[in-house]
Amino acid sequence: MQRKISQKYTNKSFWKGKNVLITGVNGFIGGNLAKFLISLNANIIGISNNRTKAKFLKHEGLLKKIKYYELDIINYKKFQNVILSNDIDICFHLAAQVDVNIAKIDPFTTLETNIRGTYNLLESFRLSKTIKSIIVASSDKAYGEYALKDLPYLENYDLRPLYPYDVSKACADLITKTYSSSLFDLPIVTTRFSNIYGPGQLNFTALIPDCILANFGLRKFIPRGNGKNKRDFLYVNDVCDLYTCLAFNLYKNKSLTGEIFNAGTGKGYTVDKIIKNICILENNKPLYDKIKLSYIGKKLTGEIQHQFMSYTKLEKMFGWKPKSKLKEGLLTTINWYNSFLKHNNYKNFL
Ligand SMILES: NC(=O)c1ccc[n+]([C@@H]2O[C@H](COP(=O)([O-])OP(=O)(O)OC[C@H]3O[C@@H](n4cnc5c(N)ncnc54)[C@H](O)[C@@H]3O)[C@@H](O)[C@H]2O)c1
Repeated sequence: MQRKISQKYTNKSFWKGKNVLITGVNGFIGGNLAKFLISLNANIIGISNNRTKAKFLKHEGLLKKIKYYELDIINYKKFQNVILSNDIDICFHLAAQVDVNIAKIDPFTTLETNIRGTYNLLESFRLSKTIKSIIVASSDKAYGEYALKDLPYLENYDLRPLYPYDVSKACADLITKTYSSSLFDLPIVTTRFSNIYGPGQLNFTALIPDCILANFGLRKFIPRGNGKNKRDFLYVNDVCDLYTCLAFNLYKNKSLTGEIFNAGTGKGYTVDKIIKNICILENNKPLYDKIKLSYIGKKLTGEIQHQFMSYTKLEKMFGWKPKSKLKEGLLTTINWYNSFLKHNNYKNFL
């Protein structure tokens, strides 16, 4: 693998005037990415299915800066119409049902959104004359369970997921293979990132937001396991930077079509370590002691035991690596929730 063009990926002269579609723009990563790309002068066309949840975009004053469509990506005709009527140059496909707990009780909606939504998108782009770069968000969950000794995952590992969200992401991931093959030759890169955290994450069942709410005294924190499971956490600014890098490089170099990229920090943190860090930053030892007691006898069910990712391939090809440090990222995130929850009720997001 040799190093390709990369460092100019944040040049405004490249992004200015580019029509960039972000599906799931209301969401955590979509919202942060929109913010970053607006700062680079891109034209953002955003799709999400729920305007009432566009709180991050509103909070950041971004809603009026994008062309926003409220639609369900399951609706092929409407979705195709948006894609074909906007001369899209670059697309980030982020829309998905991401809540693993919802997926366990409602697999149908998760499979519909994550699988049908992906082929509706790619099928529409088959007819596009302008598209040069499509980034599809798969996930580390697509790999399924591997022994701790085999981690971090490598991009050539088989996908062997079991649980509904994980299977839905693996299916979407495989669908990108056929559309990027020589048969259809769509310019697609697929990403398999670890857990992501940071300002704007409003899925309060995810570990970090859930634990922060508990530290604010708003909710009881119930650990899903005994704290020993390992996870990796990328800070959202690193993810926006990386998405920008990948989209730019694919745009400039179509031979990247079909590539898959893992990303994480390369470190497996125990869930306990994350919880402990948040409680220390919040000066809340009593809560940490209480959570530690509630680990006893708990076993993680319906979820992968250990996961962490490396960025080796990204570093070799583009010189990319994550810049954020965990403690700093957590502190910025806590401060953001503090400010956000002054004006918004977390119960609206449950
Ligand atoms: N957050 C993470 O830790 C993480 C890690 C790896 C991969 N990913 C992937 O990144 C992507 C974005 O995740 P996120 O954390 O921002 O999630 P999120 O829930 O914050 O955002 C998802 C967005 O998708 C939209 N959406 C859901 N169903 C839809 C439908 N049927 N039609 C139209 N829009 C729909 C929602 O309105 C929302 O805007 C997802 O594909 C997810 O699988 C996330």
